[in-house]
Amino acid sequence: MRDMVNDIERVLVSKEEIAEMVKRLGKQISDDYRGQPLVVLGVLKGGFVFMADLVRAIDTPLELDFIAVSSYGASTKSSGVVQLRKDSDIPLTGKHVLIVEDIIDSGLTLTYLKEMLEARNPLSVKIATAFDKPERRKVPLHVDYSGIVIPDEYVVGYGLDYDSEMRNIPDLCVLKRSVYEK
Ligand code: IMP
Ligand code: MG
Repeated sequence: MRDMVNDIERVLVSKEEIAEMVKRLGKQISDDYRGQPLVVLGVLKGGFVFMADLVRAIDTPLELDFIAVSSYGASTKSSGVVQLRKDSDIPLTGKHVLIVEDIIDSGLTLTYLKEMLEARNPLSVKIATAFDKPERRKVPLHVDYSGIVIPDEYVVGYGLDYDSEMRNIPDLCVLKRSVYEK
C-alpha cells in the first residue's frame, strides 16, 4: 500500500488552481458548443475526477459516457500499446464529441482514441485534458482544451494514480522518485 503523505514530494497544482482551470475550460466549452449536440466521453479511470468537475462547469445540454483504455499498470512508463477495454454505445453520427482525459503524455492514447471515434462519423472530435506534459510527446497531437501544462514529472492525485492508488488525493502532486526508482 502507498503512503499518501510520505510518498509525495510536493503539491504541483493545488485544488484551488485546478478549480479555476475547470471553470475556465467549462466556460470556453459552453460557448463553443452552445446550441449543438454534444457527447462528452470521459477516459477511465484517470479522467473520472476531471470529468465530474468539468461537466458541471458546462452549462449547455450534453450526453456523457465513459470509455476505458489500458493504463500504465504498476509502472511510470508507457508501454506505447493502447488497448480499448470499455467502449461507449452512444451513436455519434450528427453529434460533436469531446474526449475528456486526465493527462496527455506521449499522446499515443489520444491519437488512438481520436482515430477510433472519427471512424464513427461524428460532426467533430475534440480533446480536453486537465494536465499536459508536452515535453514527453512521441506523436504530434492537437489539444483543443488544455488545462494546465506541467513539467516532465510523474504526478498523482486528481484522478491520476501510481500503482492503482492515490487517485483520491484532491491536489495534483509530484511523486517522490524513490517510490518508483528502486
Ligand atoms: P499517453 O498515451 O502517453 O499520452 O498517456 C496518457 C495516459 O498515461 C494518461 O491517461 C494517464 O493515465 C497516464 N499517465 C501519463 N502521465 C502520468 C503521470 O504523470 N501520472 C499518472 N498517470 C500518467
Ligand atoms: Mg488515463
